[in-house]
Amino acid sequence: MLVHTIKEVREQVKAWKKEGLTVGYVPTMGYLHEGHRSLIEKAVSENDRVVVSVFVNPTQFGPNEDYEDYPRDIQKDYALCTDAGANLVFNPEPEEMYFPDKCTTVNVEGLSKGLCGAKRPVHFGGVCLVVSKFLNIVTPDRAYFGEKDAQQLAIIKRMVRDLSMDVEIVGCPIVREADGLAKSSRNTYLSAEERVAALVLNRSLTKAKAAMEDGLRCVSEIRDLIESEIKEEPLAKADYIEIVDSETLQPVESVERDVLVAIAVYIGKTRLIDNFTFRLA
Ligand code: PAJ
Repeated sequence: MLVHTIKEVREQVKAWKKEGLTVGYVPTMGYLHEGHRSLIEKAVSENDRVVVSVFVNPTQFGPNEDYEDYPRDIQKDYALCTDAGANLVFNPEPEEMYFPDKCTTVNVEGLSKGLCGAKRPVHFGGVCLVVSKFLNIVTPDRAYFGEKDAQQLAIIKRMVRDLSMDVEIVGCPIVREADGLAKSSRNTYLSAEERVAALVLNRSLTKAKAAMEDGLRCVSEIRDLIESEIKEEPLAKADYIEIVDSETLQPVESVERDVLVAIAVYIGKTRLIDNFTFRLA
């Protein structure tokens, strides 16, 4: 079922809960691909009913970002959701989600400062606001997020803990194209030449991972290795290369606990992100 209002979602979820059914929830901005599908399928496997939201959230885009241009195709998205086993797709208009005079903000301090937050100052405030609203509307037992957006996942986990929200946050592995590029709705912006250049993200991370598996622990050396690989690619420009504590997202100088290795790289005008978590056995 495809619905557009908060009221319809609330009524449906209430009816399911009355029957004693569990509810899984997958938030998305649409233009769905196999990465989103993996989240929906996991939710379907772990819950009796699954809700997917498709909403390009204006509050998480900065003034010069791609809100207007962000790709949209609700009919195709709806077909993918039902095919993957979702029961309800919620596709609200911005006016349904936001009052013109709204004045509440949700900010997870500290965790939102570095990495993408340093480059996109309003981004995580917008993500936390919209995810809080959706969690209040859907009231799911579990909500599913991709490790592709590792900082987002860490922030949402912290927000849910700090605000005592009654939902389990489930992280899901990154889904990649056959050649290693992490799937993203923004990959559609790439020209054929840029699509090849974009492989440098995964290539540089794979090199770093191999070196770390061989015992490299010095963070500045790991960063240099990634940077020099990115510099080899003329169409690529690193936005950030960060090695941080995987939970607190604070910078570390040497790898002595589990770390998140995260990069953002411009390929032409398109900004792509990728990461891996290195776990010390
Ligand atoms: P969106 O970019 O559409 O992503 C929705 C979810 O799909 C996120 O949890 C993201 O991490 C996950 N995802 C995207 N690509 C993936 C991939 N290749 N492998 C695994 N998971 C992947 O993230 C957002 O939307 C928004 O910020 C949102 C949370 C919906 C709030 O507006």
